[in-house]
Amino acid sequence: MTEYTYETHEYDVVVVGAGGAGLRATLGMAEQGLRTACVTKVFPTRSHTVAAQGGIAASLSNMGPDHWQWHMYDTVKGSDWLGDTDAMEYLAREAPKAVYELEHYGVPFSRTEEGKIYQRPFGGHTTEFGEGPPVQRTCAAADRTGHAILRTLYGQSLKNNAEFYIEYFAIDLIMSKDGQCQGVVCWKLDDGTFHVFNAKMVVLATGGYGRAYFSATSAHTCTGDGGGMVARAGLPLQDMEFVQFHPTGIYGSGCLVTEGARGEGGYLTNSEGERFMERYAPHYKDLAPRDYVSRCMTMEIREGRGVGAGGDHIHLNLSHLPADALAERLPGISESAKIFAGVDVTKEPIPVLPTVHYNMGGVPTNYWGEVLNPSAGDPNAIVPGLMAVGEAGCASVHGANRLGSNSLIDLVVFGRAAAIRAGQIVDANAANPVLNKASVDHAFDRFDGLRHSDGALPTADLRLEMQRTMQEDAAVFRTSETLSQGVEKMTAIAAKMDDIQVTDRSLVWNSDLMETLELTNLMPNALATIAGAEARKESRGAHAHEDFTERDDDSWRMHTIAKVEGKDVDLSYRPVIVDPLTTEGQGGIALEKIAPKVRTF
Ligand code: FUM
Repeated sequence: MTEYTYETHEYDVVVVGAGGAGLRATLGMAEQGLRTACVTKVFPTRSHTVAAQGGIAASLSNMGPDHWQWHMYDTVKGSDWLGDTDAMEYLAREAPKAVYELEHYGVPFSRTEEGKIYQRPFGGHTTEFGEGPPVQRTCAAADRTGHAILRTLYGQSLKNNAEFYIEYFAIDLIMSKDGQCQGVVCWKLDDGTFHVFNAKMVVLATGGYGRAYFSATSAHTCTGDGGGMVARAGLPLQDMEFVQFHPTGIYGSGCLVTEGARGEGGYLTNSEGERFMERYAPHYKDLAPRDYVSRCMTMEIREGRGVGAGGDHIHLNLSHLPADALAERLPGISESAKIFAGVDVTKEPIPVLPTVHYNMGGVPTNYWGEVLNPSAGDPNAIVPGLMAVGEAGCASVHGANRLGSNSLIDLVVFGRAAAIRAGQIVDANAANPVLNKASVDHAFDRFDGLRHSDGALPTADLRLEMQRTMQEDAAVFRTSETLSQGVEKMTAIAAKMDDIQVTDRSLVWNSDLMETLELTNLMPNALATIAGAEARKESRGAHAHEDFTERDDDSWRMHTIAKVEGKDVDLSYRPVIVDPLTTEGQGGIALEKIAPKVRTF
């Protein structure tokens, strides 16, 4: 084996990932004077948050009455009663504060005539605990909200002396013998050097794993790196079977068309020109939550009312909207429609299809972002030294289905919460942990093994096999047959990792090796997804099981916990946290408001 030399860096906190959650955590840590490093495989402003379009949910009441309790209720209902209630309350309560902080940091939000932050309607966001009309709760910077947030947070982090290690790929976590996280081993992509980060707290903000699927709105960098490292550290993943399909990915390319397009008045039609959502969701129509809209679109296509030569997609209509409104509120998607579908949105509908967009599951955490390692004795046991935020984590604030624009607010609320918590538990004056050399060596052994892989299967071929299997067998609708076939196929595909072929052995800009490392991260995420889905015998949120069409709270209102080792997945379950932080008497929410009921729209 090659002997790898490395440089060691000591920090109070190391954040892995520089999307919205990573940057908000980095900024919050640095503001408190903690020595903070942010390690990222892409330049911060190229992180996937840059692609977030429609906006960030917070009950600011700028466009009409709104309350955090209504936001909380919508999030509970949106989650199909699988979210942890304490986390959902924390999100809805803290959202306005977190958005005003962004405004003060300098995010260039769109404005109302009076100069307030502009807010648009988004699916599943309502008034009067789901009884009233849709609410305008989604704060927007045109349709480039993620882009605006990312640039502002990066600038503020630099101003507060956070240190950035850009184009550093995190290989593995460093864990002590007694299960404390002590840091992370990294490979610097542009010069082939190695770096060991020793930290009192590691924060995983590595995003989702959309690229386990063939067609996704996610960037190619969304390879579940945090989940992969956690699985290799012997820690579990949670609720991975809940994969969100966004109703409006552009047909063919999968590129996102924001839900804000429907928020601004766009609507879906089938081959008969019918606004079919009126039939399925008489009250909220095109602004029903995305899991529901995606299923309705799929049913229209299955029943022969899809559009196009193959009858295999749906139309999104915007041409009735004033051209100046499209130019002001939706300039980005007007451009994407032109580039990726050849469509002028002022004249023609956009061809769209439900496309993988978001992972509700991830690394289990409490609402402070502290990683959990649930056991029968303690379902909320904390892993010292390790946090996970954003799409990489599972707080679980989205449960079985996330509402649109609750992702950007999740990133900033929980990135901020992680910083608040770290301020309480990280002692800047204490010595850094003494690194477990065996864990560091193990990371290099794995790296070296992959670097010298001389099997028969190119990484791209095996990745494609995984992506096609996930797309076919863990789709919008699932059956016992597709899921058990999916488990069988994915187990066989994961076993082929032993026969992987890496042809480039160099250490500088070796994309072959980097993609192989990414595939080793995607694989446990995909395995946990299909195994969790196969086991869950009910329908809930994004998990639409055609052989078990009802939600079954008695048997299944619980989180799936998946430990992945190689190709094997071991499943167990953890109770959902049903109690809010505060009840009505304490200025909180009335318990009967959030009691489970049938989800209708
Ligand atoms: O439709 C969108 O703009 C996506 C937003 C989200 O996923 O929250």
